[in-house]
Amino acid sequence: METILQVRDLHTSFLTSNGEVQAVRGVSFDVEKGKTLGIVGESGSGKSVTSLSILQLLGSTGRINSGSIKLDGEELTTKNKKEMRRIRGGRIAMIFQDPMTSLNPLIPLGDQVGEMLWEHKKEMSKAERDAKVVELFRMVRIPEPEKRLKSYPHEFSGGMRQRVMIAMALACRPELLIADEPTTALDVSIQDQILKLMRSLQQEMGMSIMFITHDLGVVAELADRVAVMYGGLIMEEADIFDIFKDPRHPYTLGLLASIPDMNQDKSKKLQPIPGSPPDMIRPPKGCPFAPRCPYAMRICADELPPYVSTGENRRSMCWLLDPEAPETGNPFRNKK
Ligand SMILES: Nc1ncnc2c1ncn2[C@@H]1O[C@H](COP(=O)(O)OP(=O)(O)OP(=O)(O)O)[C@@H](O)[C@H]1O
Ligand SMILES: [Mg+2]
Repeated sequence: METILQVRDLHTSFLTSNGEVQAVRGVSFDVEKGKTLGIVGESGSGKSVTSLSILQLLGSTGRINSGSIKLDGEELTTKNKKEMRRIRGGRIAMIFQDPMTSLNPLIPLGDQVGEMLWEHKKEMSKAERDAKVVELFRMVRIPEPEKRLKSYPHEFSGGMRQRVMIAMALACRPELLIADEPTTALDVSIQDQILKLMRSLQQEMGMSIMFITHDLGVVAELADRVAVMYGGLIMEEADIFDIFKDPRHPYTLGLLASIPDMNQDKSKKLQPIPGSPPDMIRPPKGCPFAPRCPYAMRICADELPPYVSTGENRRSMCWLLDPEAPETGNPFRNKK
């Protein structure tokens, strides 16, 4: 298996008037070539900051304090602004939640996608660019693409605008696509269409995808592997099948219990995880999930658990998996 993106022990924080927000606190993962890594977790877990760190779009208050980010073996954290600009939209493309904020309302959509091409391929003529944009619109299944070049963002529905964003992302044939909640603002049926589109485009282009969402159901549709984030850390990482069939972290159990489709018994009420995420200015010294964890032991509040291998190519960060953890009331008993 070849790796396109390798992130190691990433620490990212923001300076605020209240103190330093420790948004990402030692995150490591790989994205394999041609595969999709899903990053899931509740609001505030550090998913977006992880992706913004990769792209170096942290703003003036954000900073990568330590760690390594390698794209196809090449270190990104030491690149300068100009080099990173070339990488963004070129080798790494991104799509975000709300297409309206990323699109300019005053410029025809065809020209906006064309501009992306121009940024990275200055030798193309206007006619070549228009032809390429039509091809991209066709690729993302925008009907009558020739007629759509001159349309403005407000003339498109939310789903169609997101297709334009995907076309823009694909314009330079990126090696890696980072999608941060790209379907959250869309209706469920449109959301499903966009996920299907992304999956077939990935097969056509052999692209690697890092897909961020708070919804494990969405991840099930698309991901090969899943990293479950909480409190700026990866709590569990495993292949998609293992995460659903045999989760090995109380936080993953909690997320699974809150997915509608996973609950066969429709009469049973969905169980959102009670409690709220930790304060990232003063993160707890133990496991960040301990205050909300139904199985928490004394050690959980005192010490951050180490990663434990929970099978082939999977790991979890949980004291319940420690060989000395008690068996009674342990949801992972006989699995350690
Ligand atoms: N520019 C910023 N300045 C200060 N704190 C920030 C900034 N951006 C993010 N944070 C904080 O960093 C933490 C992680 O935020 P992040 O945006 O990565 O969460 P997320 O997992 O993407 O959540 P969501 O599902 O809501 O998008 C949060 O505590 C957030 O408040
Ligand atoms: Mg986010």
